[in-house]
Amino acid sequence: MTTTTTAIEAETVLDARGVTMRFGGLTAVKNVDLTVKSGEIVGLIGPNGAGKTTFFNCLTGLYIPTEGEVRYKGTVLPPKSFKVTAAGIARTFQNIRLFSNMTVLENVLVGRHTRTKEGLWSALLRLPGFHKEEAASREKAMELLEFIGLAHKAEHLARNLPYGEQRKLEIARALASDPGLILLDEPTAGMNPQETRAAEELIFAIRDKGIAVLVIEHDMRFIFNLCDRVACLVQGEKLIEGTAGEVQSDERVVAAYLGEPFEGAPGAEEAAEVEAAEAHAEAAVVEAVEEAFEEAIEEAAEEAAEEAAEQAADEEAAEEAAEDTAETAATTTEPETPADTPADTEADSTTSTDGEAK
Ligand SMILES: Nc1ncnc2c1ncn2[C@@H]1O[C@H](COP(=O)(O)OP(=O)(O)OP(=O)(O)O)[C@@H](O)[C@H]1O
Ligand SMILES: [Mg+2]
Repeated sequence: MTTTTTAIEAETVLDARGVTMRFGGLTAVKNVDLTVKSGEIVGLIGPNGAGKTTFFNCLTGLYIPTEGEVRYKGTVLPPKSFKVTAAGIARTFQNIRLFSNMTVLENVLVGRHTRTKEGLWSALLRLPGFHKEEAASREKAMELLEFIGLAHKAEHLARNLPYGEQRKLEIARALASDPGLILLDEPTAGMNPQETRAAEELIFAIRDKGIAVLVIEHDMRFIFNLCDRVACLVQGEKLIEGTAGEVQSDERVVAAYLGEPFEGAPGAEEAAEVEAAEAHAEAAVVEAVEEAFEEAIEEAAEEAAEEAAEQAADEEAAEEAAEDTAETAATTTEPETPADTPADTEADSTTSTDGEAK
């Protein structure tokens, strides 16, 4: 039993189980299981806001998952990103994060700090210990720059590289930590088709170096060309996981993510079923909104009627009170009215004054 477990763990590089990440009331990642085995390229797809980057952040110690566990080669990962890198997981970011005022070579050297005795600060501040190790590190860094095709720009400032090359440099920096698994968050975003094809080749070459790959991308052609397995997240949940062919032809993926059927997509019948289900769901929402709206209108009308009734009652009471006062005034003033003064003139004036005062 133990032998079997060890054998399975030996080939499983990443094992994420029941990963859930909540931000207040929002559950960005819901109970996601995902494994990556050595020699594999696994793709993670899903619409914007599906939770892909959040899931990466949970895997790399940037976020501590609300629930769940992440193992790298059988060991639970510590919840600190530099410890995760040291353990063997490297990553790139959706929004490129380079030291823009450092050279291309220096950026790769900084990426090596987890594998040298000298730390990050030593590399950044170029302390004496850093220089001692520098020769060996430089050689390794130059090898990596050659591997990704940027050796000729080693002395250029990172910020002067075109966008596509900055993405490649980020990959080189990640590789500098000698990872067993690399996580790439939209590595071809902003690349032209030619650069994207080159990136595909680069990722195959990374896999051939014995590094497992987990990659997020919106470019479906890229994903389905590249990946041995693809998982699709929708609203934080794993909708499906399978081979490129399986995921590509799953009607839920087509409906939820790709929007419209494409080559190899399910037949018209299934597409119509999905469409009908969506229309039904939409109609239900519209109905619920209309109902709520009608209820609100009815409530508002009732309230208005009540208010009007109250106001009318108040007015009636005021009128009655005014009449009473007028009567009282008339009675009280009557005896004082000189016989020769017209009674109604005097009474009118009193009533009017009292009425206004009320
Ligand atoms: N730190 C955070 N605090 C609060 N909410 C967050 C945080 N990070 C992510 N979210 C939310 O989690 C959800 C998932 O976001 P995430 O960035 O993981 O999506 P994504 O699948 O990577 O999308 P995209 O394809 O656009 O990059 C979104 O609703 C987002 O607003
Ligand atoms: Mg993202």
